[in-house]
Amino acid sequence: MKILVTGGLGYIGSHTVVELQSAGFNVVIIDNLSNSKIEVLDKITQITGIKPGYFNFDLSNKTACEEFFSNNNNIDGIIHFAAYKAVGESVNKPLMYYRNNLESLMNIMDNMNIHNIANLVFSSSCTVYGQPDVLPVTEQAPRKQAESPYGNTKKMAEDIIQDTVYSSDLKAIALRYFNPVGAHPTALIGELPLGVPNNLMPFITQTAAGIREQLSVFGEDYDTADGTAIRDYIHVVDLAKAHIIAVKRLVEKNNKLDYEIFNIGTGNGYSVLEVVKSFERVTNTKLNYKIVGRREGDIEKVWANTDFANNELGWKAEKDIDEMTASAWKFQLALK
Ligand code: UD1
Repeated sequence: MKILVTGGLGYIGSHTVVELQSAGFNVVIIDNLSNSKIEVLDKITQITGIKPGYFNFDLSNKTACEEFFSNNNNIDGIIHFAAYKAVGESVNKPLMYYRNNLESLMNIMDNMNIHNIANLVFSSSCTVYGQPDVLPVTEQAPRKQAESPYGNTKKMAEDIIQDTVYSSDLKAIALRYFNPVGAHPTALIGELPLGVPNNLMPFITQTAAGIREQLSVFGEDYDTADGTAIRDYIHVVDLAKAHIIAVKRLVEKNNKLDYEIFNIGTGNGYSVLEVVKSFERVTNTKLNYKIVGRREGDIEKVWANTDFANNELGWKAEKDIDEMTASAWKFQLALK
């Protein structure tokens, strides 16, 4: 089985390539290195003993995309990660986000139709729920007005996929990730943010490593036990494994609907301060942090109802919050 992984050198993509190769799939990666490093290809090879195929081009380039699919046949399924993902940047450069994230998806699906590639796994996000009215949030919860152009690209991409599936032979699974954190146990691959991290976990590990002076905890006046915002953090290796199950489900034709959506989280919510405490516990250090005002656009609390993924997909997150913080720290230390 040959699986194309777009964005396969990125954070979630690289962990998924490792799991795919370990499960016996042939993997071809397309990644234009816009937010990843070519060294990751060697790290994947080191972990699995197999060098995946690799192509460097921009998927929003229609001609390059057509050329790739004309020259590479026998692809059984596609896992599409390649996209821009910085919320703040998307507010300042909306057209760049819409163009990159949506044109690449449409180019891929055009070629799937032309070359009879039926199976697509798409990386969506719990951002489509906004602040849910009911927690834990199920896949049936209404999707809310997106808080940012980035969030809107995920919502629009879901719609584009759904419409295309209903008009063609395409089958798709959208995985709505909650908050991916942590790193591979080898510490060879992990999250490599460029510049100042926006996300909590890399900011914590960089602060502990002395790269950042202090973590700002955004808001302590939320309606939660300790006043800080709650998220459903999920270990990136658990998340990667969900992709293997999803792509197998499509390739083996075990999907019940042509377009299916699954929440991929642990089902547990942790506050910002609980994540900090876990980090301090597993590293036996004190983290330098201060409480500041809320960050604009942040929601108060969200965690997943994972019943559908657990029962229908047969997937369940296995790693707990301490394994997430510990592996993130191990990766940070290995970068030095
Ligand atoms: C964000 C995006 C989400 C996207 C995800 C990608 C927003 C509103 N949402 O999720 O759409 O899919 O990134 O990874 O931006 N925090 C601090 N201090 C920090 C950084 C974060 O206190 O320096 C807090 C945040 O306020 C939040 C929690 O930590 O409560 C998690 O933040 P983050 O890791 O940025 O993820 P999200 O905002 O949940």
